[in-house]
Formats: sequence, C-alpha cells, structure tokens
Amino acid sequence: MNIDLSTTYMGLELRNPIIAASSGLTDSVVKIKELDKQGVGAIVLKSIFEEQIIREIDAQGVNNMYGTYQDAENYVSFYTREHNLNNYTQLIQDAKNTVEIPIIASINCISKGEWIDYAKRIAEAGANGIEINLFIMPADAKKTGAEYEQAYFDIANSIKQQIDIPVALKLSSYFSGLANTIVKLSETGISSLVLFNRFYSPDIDLDSEKIVSGNIYSSASDNGNTLRWMSLLHGKVSCSIAASTGIHSWESVIKNIMAGANAVQIASVLYEKGITHVPVMLKEMESWMASKNYNSIKEIIGKLSSAKINNPMMYERAQFMKYFSNHY
Ligand SMILES: Cc1cc2nc3c(=O)[nH]c(=O)nc-3n(C[C@H](O)[C@H](O)[C@H](O)COP(=O)(O)O)c2cc1C
Repeated sequence: MNIDLSTTYMGLELRNPIIAASSGLTDSVVKIKELDKQGVGAIVLKSIFEEQIIREIDAQGVNNMYGTYQDAENYVSFYTREHNLNNYTQLIQDAKNTVEIPIIASINCISKGEWIDYAKRIAEAGANGIEINLFIMPADAKKTGAEYEQAYFDIANSIKQQIDIPVALKLSSYFSGLANTIVKLSETGISSLVLFNRFYSPDIDLDSEKIVSGNIYSSASDNGNTLRWMSLLHGKVSCSIAASTGIHSWESVIKNIMAGANAVQIASVLYEKGITHVPVMLKEMESWMASKNYNSIKEIIGKLSSAKINNPMMYERAQFMKYFSNHY
C-alpha cells in the first residue's frame, strides 16, 4: 500500500510531517544536507536571537571600551549586528541552494524592537517562512496579564505588516486565558502556531551553590501538555499548528497528529538517538498506517481532537479524583 505522508504546514507542502526543530542541529549547511538526506519534511534553522546580538555587543565590552565616544560605539554595535545578520542570511541562501525541502528561518525575540528589520532581510534572503519564537517573561509584578498579551499582538501585527512570507509564532502555554489568546493570535494573519516552546529551566548545583541550567533535553512525558492543547485547539484556530516538546517516538508523532497537529517539530530525540532515527520513525508510521488502512496523513489529522471524540473530559479535566486517589 502506498502511504501518502505529505501534509500542509504554514501554507507549505511538506513531504512528511516531521520537521527538524530549531536547534544546534540546524545551524549549518552540512547538517541541513544530512537532515534532508534522512528524510525530514522541513527544517527550522537555529534561531538568530534578539538577545544574543545585544549580549554579544555587551560581551565585547563596547560600552566600557568606548566610554563616551558615541559614534564609535554605534559603529561597533552596527558592525556586530550586520555580521550576525550577514552570516544568517548567507546560511539561508546556502541552505536554499542545497536542499529542496522548505527552510524556515527563526528569530528568537523578547520585544517589539529592531529585530523586525531583521525579519525583512531574512525574507529577502529566500527563506520559505519565518518562525518567531516569542516569550516575554511575565516577571514584572506591576504589569497585568492583558498588558503582556498586548505585546504578543503588537509583534504579530507588525511582523505581518512588514513581510510577505508565511509567519509562524512559537509560543509557550503561559497565558491565563490560553485558548482565547491563541485563537485570537491565529486570527492576526499568521500562517501557523508552534505549540509549545521549551525553556532552559534553572537548577541549583548544591556543591558549588550556583544556579545552573536544568535539563536541556525534554522527556517523553513533557508531551502531555502539548497533546492536550493540540486537541483542544484543533478546528478553533485559523491557521495550521505544529506540535512541539516531548515528541520522542513515531507513536508520539501519530498521537499529536491525531490530536490535531498538521506537523510536528522534534529536537531532543534527534540529539539523543541521532538524526538517523528520522527514517526509522517514518517507516514505523507508514507500517502503522497501513495496518490501520489509512492512506494518508491528512485522513488522521485531528481524528481524535476534543471536538471529535465522545468524551472530551479526558482532555479538558486536569485533576481526576479517580487517578489521584488510587495510588497509595
Ligand atoms: C540544544 C537545543 C537548542 C535549541 N535551540 C533553539 C533555538 O535556537 N531556537 C528555538 O526556537 N528553539 C530552540 N530549541 C528548542 C527546540 O526547537 C524545541 O522547541 C524544544 O527542544 C522542544 O522540542 P523537543 O522536545 O523535541 O526537544 C533548542 C533545543 C535544544 C535541545
């Protein structure tokens, strides 16, 4: 049986729904070529960070070095920014000249700032789409949830005004009215949502008594939250959705698609098992689909979303007395 694994994501035709997520695995043409060879449907490039550029300038001690020489300082800032941007646009061009699968550029941002100019340059470099990894830490006790949310809408609207290529927003689940915010963001004209991004969580090293980074890789159990929201949002959002975080197996790819994802993004499993795990997953997906008499991925997208099942409580309820009470 010939199984059609193709899907549509961000308005782009993908040969299959497995996307290599933005990470160190997607930061060079050599790695991109290898990922393409292993069969991924699309690649999201390692992000260019709004913060990274600012930090890089700080790290050079520009402010100290130049003291009050404002012009020199501006020149060095400009040079550093241009250098990063030129490298990034070169990566896009080289990737586009090397592989045929869609190349999605990625910008990691925390404010509505200068990076919107970067987006224009990135679009001009030939990326098939741009993913904006957007997280504003709601740590200011004086700022309301509504004020924080407004910033997301401002960013989505201004980016859509500036560029013509498809835009995806990669978001966290840290919104008090998550469904409402996500649905409204999907109506701003963006082409896709990536749910959800994952953060480096802080940990404490008891020997050195220092703050260190927690686990960089996700675990399979981290996928539950994504699966829940795929299911609850499928059919309600006005754009495609990619599931991300904790997808470590072919089974998990299928589950997220059945819950409502148009595609999935994976990183940790590729670090842990190697990128040769991609063809293994694709083959297993095909075998499972054949065994269930499914001909195409499109048939199963959202088949088990909350709107389509008899008992959506399994997705909607977060605290089940039955489960919490039966463990002693
Ligand atoms: C080493 C590493 C580097 C990453 N770098 C980026 C990045 O530059 N930009 C970004 O948006 N996400 C980045 N991510 C997050 C991944 O794209 C992905 O959203 C996250 O790891 C969850 O997927 P997973 O559970 O399959 O790992 C990175 C993840 C890892 C493990």
